Amino acid sequence: MSEVGSTTVVAPRILAIVNQKGGVGKTTTAVNLATAMAACQKRVLVVDLDPQGNASTGFGVPRKARDADSYAVLIGEASIADAAIQTEVPGLEVVPASPNLSGAEIELVTMEHREFRLREALVRHAAASPYDYILIDCPPSLGLLTLNALVASDAVLVPLQCEFYALEGLSQLIRTVERVRKSLNPDLEIQGVVLTMFDRRNNLSEQVAADVRGHFGDVVYRTVIPRNVRVSEAPSYGKPVIVYDMACSGSRAYLDLAREVLRRERALAEAA
Ligand SMILES: Nc1ncnc2c1ncn2[C@@H]1O[C@H](COP(=O)(O)OP(=O)(O)OP(=O)(O)O)[C@@H](O)[C@H]1O
Ligand SMILES: [Mg+2]
Repeated sequence: MSEVGSTTVVAPRILAIVNQKGGVGKTTTAVNLATAMAACQKRVLVVDLDPQGNASTGFGVPRKARDADSYAVLIGEASIADAAIQTEVPGLEVVPASPNLSGAEIELVTMEHREFRLREALVRHAAASPYDYILIDCPPSLGLLTLNALVASDAVLVPLQCEFYALEGLSQLIRTVERVRKSLNPDLEIQGVVLTMFDRRNNLSEQVAADVRGHFGDVVYRTVIPRNVRVSEAPSYGKPVIVYDMACSGSRAYLDLAREVLRRERALAEAA
């Protein structure tokens, strides 16, 4: 917390949405958890750190509005304030991604402080930060982009798809988080694991959910995100599902998840 003039500025909490497995619901969770948090009166920024730019598309950001993007932020050509775009959700902004970002993994290798580029950009912005939460949508890899997200974040939120291979690769992800904690970001926590695309008619979903809870216990949120066709339709309209169809089961689940994440945040803040 810092004092700027007479206003008290609380640094935003930064959460990385990470899983190196593709298609597990990272972007869907980033977009809809952020929207649900904004519905809970939080001021939220989503940083799209995936060259696929799915989160930007999910918020309906036109391609031509992506000039000042997360790539420009990483290479120091734009500030967070330059790049952030207001979405149609009040209190929710997004730093979009463009295909430029696909070169960043290679370009960053030769740059100074290559793992700290995003953190430094967010810290530079912190004094003026209008956000309570920043969610970072990561690409499906543990390369330099994800490393930048892990170094910049206070905590990690891991979406796990309820399918047979859900736990595969997770130990590698946990090892990466531990490595980052030991060397680059000692304060990095795991906020939680969220089960996604749960299909109640499928025994395998139940089995996987039980397995994951057996492994991770209370780290797994009680809220489970169901497989819901409205969730998968919403991005094609450039809308979070909560805007597209607030009453559907997917929207209700993301609103529940936001409340649970915020409860954990309060508990973490009280314990600190
Ligand atoms: N709860 C859900 N119900 C139905 N479809 C879903 C749900 N969650 C995600 N999907 C769909 O599954 C696909 C993968 O989801 P998403 O893009 O969020 O995963 P991702 O982990 O971000 O993928 P990538 O690794 O490529 O970035 C998308 O087509 C999305 O619309
Ligand atoms: Mg994605």
